[in-house]
Amino acid sequence: MPQVTRRSANWLLGGGVAGSLASFVYPVMRFLNPPATPEAPVNEVVVANAQQMLPNSGRVVKFGSKPVLLIRVGEAEWRAFGATCTHLNCTVQYRPESQQIWCACHNGFYDLNGRVVSGPPPRPLDEYAVRTRGQEIVIARKG
Ligand code: FES
Repeated sequence: MPQVTRRSANWLLGGGVAGSLASFVYPVMRFLNPPATPEAPVNEVVVANAQQMLPNSGRVVKFGSKPVLLIRVGEAEWRAFGATCTHLNCTVQYRPESQQIWCACHNGFYDLNGRVVSGPPPRPLDEYAVRTRGQEIVIARKG
């Protein structure tokens, strides 16, 4: 019959404590530092129902993980632009009174083609394609 010495008992106890610590620390580390997972590409997204937006209005919607500014210009005219300002990445918004896109961070303005009108933005907003499918408003990458 094998004898359990004090030394082997310490090893068993130490191994159990180490295993317990590892089983606690590993999930915490995975939570704090998740593995990089590539984002699934999004090609088109239904972002609104036409009845939800009045003409001359805008709203920021999600296109995958990116914010996109959807604008209903007129009854049947829609535009969509990346909602991230090209200056320092603030989120832009639609200003119905001037029919322009405005960045509140540094008072940058874009027109309804996404071109810079005034302020510090160095380049136009990225434009997305917009189409309607019945009452659904669908945006897609332009390409
Ligand atoms: S971040 Fe938009 S104007 Fe500066």
